[in-house]
Amino acid sequence: MRFGRITAFLAVSLAVAGSAPASAHPVDDGSLRAAARGSGVHIGTAVDMSALADDAPYRAAVAREFDTVTPENVMKWEVVEPQPGVYDWAAADRLVDFAHKNGQVVRGHTLVWHSQNPAWLTETAYTPAQLRTLLRKHILDEVGHFKGRVWAWDVANEIFNDDGTLRDTIWLRALGSDYIADAFRWAHQADPKALLFLNDYNNEGVNAKSDAYYALAKQLRAAGVPVHGYGMQGHLGVQYGFPGDVLENVRRFDRLGMKTAFTEVDVRMELPPDTAKVQAQAEGFGLLLRACLMAKNCVSYTVWGFTDKYSWVPGFFDGQGSATPLDENLQPKPAYDTLRETFLLVRR
Ligand code: XIL
Repeated sequence: MRFGRITAFLAVSLAVAGSAPASAHPVDDGSLRAAARGSGVHIGTAVDMSALADDAPYRAAVAREFDTVTPENVMKWEVVEPQPGVYDWAAADRLVDFAHKNGQVVRGHTLVWHSQNPAWLTETAYTPAQLRTLLRKHILDEVGHFKGRVWAWDVANEIFNDDGTLRDTIWLRALGSDYIADAFRWAHQADPKALLFLNDYNNEGVNAKSDAYYALAKQLRAAGVPVHGYGMQGHLGVQYGFPGDVLENVRRFDRLGMKTAFTEVDVRMELPPDTAKVQAQAEGFGLLLRACLMAKNCVSYTVWGFTDKYSWVPGFFDGQGSATPLDENLQPKPAYDTLRETFLLVRR
């Protein structure tokens, strides 16, 4: 009798599951997105807008493999405001629409940075007061434009040097370190629901740079500044070895009550690749994902491009490449399988 009832219950549940829309009980189609489902961690990629427009297999892979996207370039200041006061949101809007259609959330990247700023901004001798007004307007206008459509913003990007001192930028020179708190306050004012992140590279393990972030985050939060997250880009290289204390680092930000994210993961190598390097690369990708899954408040893991066909690495690091989980033909490497397996095996 008892068993009979349970069997009947199971039969009913299965029937309901079977008749539910595909999205409610999706099958594992072998994608990263399917493996990540239910893990509490979004899986993302940076998106190259020309590839998204021109390359159908690329476009299909972005939709199939990921549930969050980051514009690789098109939300940067030089793109959105090519002339003073003249905005061009077209490319960024296209990505946000694509994400919406595919049930993906968007990581906005990035609001205050030393790089990829328009020449009109960096080459004019503005006074500190003018620069502050310009930065405020930039943040209010950009975050305001995407209000309700961007899940998380990299508000301040790469503001520290590796030794833990603040990076010398036009912002620090003109405004002192106050520009950091101001940037977060303005972003929050423009979209109170968006998650606001600090973001940098070489800050994945415990070191002088991540110590500086920890101290800053603590101080800002104590002062009531709306800083919600700590982003670790995760640009690794097999030839440098990997940081050993990533989980310890992520967990100390957890304890501050902050969210964390891996925001730009790639693992480059000296070309040409060989079996050992490709295996080491898989370990690098897996190490960061494991730390994310094992920490309570790690909300997303984003790769900086998923195919070597469009990766930024060969153009920026002489003689290096092969840094993403799929090769130039969009074929998976061991790193891809490691990411899937890690999502399936390491559950919170
Ligand atoms: C890179 C892009 O991938 C390139 O296409 C562009 O030419 C330069 O910027 N840290 C960041 C990213 O925060 O915005 C950078 O993206 C890579 C390093």
